[in-house]
Amino acid sequence: DKGNHRHFMLKEIYEQPEVIGHTLGHYLSFNNLQVNLPESGGLDFAKIDRINMTACGTAYYAGLTSKYWFEGLARLPVDIDIASEFRYREAPLSKDGLSLFISQSGETADTLAGLKYCEEQGQHLAAVVNVRESTIARASHSVFPTLAGPEIGVASTKAFTCQLSTLASLAVAAGVQRGHIDREREKQLVRDLSEAPRYANEVLHLEDTIAKLAHRLANKQHVLYLGRDTNFPLAMEGALKLKELSYIHAEGYAAGELKHGPIALVDENMPIVVIAPHDRIFEKTVSNMQEVAARGGQIILITDPKGAEAVGMDEAEIIVMPEMPEIITPIIYALPIQMLAYHTAVHMGTDVDQPRNLAKSVTVE
Ligand code: F6R
Repeated sequence: DKGNHRHFMLKEIYEQPEVIGHTLGHYLSFNNLQVNLPESGGLDFAKIDRINMTACGTAYYAGLTSKYWFEGLARLPVDIDIASEFRYREAPLSKDGLSLFISQSGETADTLAGLKYCEEQGQHLAAVVNVRESTIARASHSVFPTLAGPEIGVASTKAFTCQLSTLASLAVAAGVQRGHIDREREKQLVRDLSEAPRYANEVLHLEDTIAKLAHRLANKQHVLYLGRDTNFPLAMEGALKLKELSYIHAEGYAAGELKHGPIALVDENMPIVVIAPHDRIFEKTVSNMQEVAARGGQIILITDPKGAEAVGMDEAEIIVMPEMPEIITPIIYALPIQMLAYHTAVHMGTDVDQPRNLAKSVTVE
């Protein structure tokens, strides 16, 4: 049932404040501002020296985002691979390593094959899954559910932000267990994460603005997405959403990588979506943005009030997000990215809930 919404995808976008709240509530105790891991299957991050992650598509981008969190908050090195590569790579794994699989369906064939490989290597297996009874969940020692509820739209939206919510909670837990996050910092991070549903709700009000901006992407040949740090995986996720929904060719790049090749593509027919909250690397991303603007690239900047003020661009080109704690930016900035792809597809009249050639669950190789 789509409720009042035109598509399942839009309904699922709008469910995010609620399901992000449910998911975070499973891992965080908001009363005593503590993180706790139910069903962790005896997992102790203090005894782990490495994580290797495996996933496909959107779930892979959630994992890639969490690499920044695990390494930054818990000083825990993360290797991450797309499952179709990992399964044939025969990667050497650390004896004290954790193998983590991220999958909405829990049935993705390549991800499952990666799990089998890690099982043979005697690894501790953990899964971030949305379907509790799935094959990947049942085969894992530790199960970390995302409480997104059933996702009907083929393009993943709420499952992605719930994966991020779960992985952020796990990274904080890892930081606490490994002694890199003290009690005060833990309290602050839990408080920051607890704000996510409220910000998600606030950002949904930007839909009209975003629908207007989507006109600029509709019927273009190519679109580039740029970001740094945790917004780099989000740039790739944004490009994936646009490709699958609108069939426009899109690429997500680390903003600093632009001058190593892709800037050659830029001309006045190339819209560029820049994801840049006003953080410690904002200036770096903005200077990359100015390089593309100087070559005629049409910019859509997603930033916050401080960022908007600092760039002094025409406000018609900016999606102004609320200022928010750093740890939740990839979760909350996912929403305008999703809405932008959705409205571009609606302008172009494509089948949003059932894009051509795609299946919801990829159970064959
Ligand atoms: C994109 C999308 C896919 C899935 C991928 C993995 O919107 O939905 O890229 O993320 O097929 O699926 P799961 O998470 O079920 O393993």
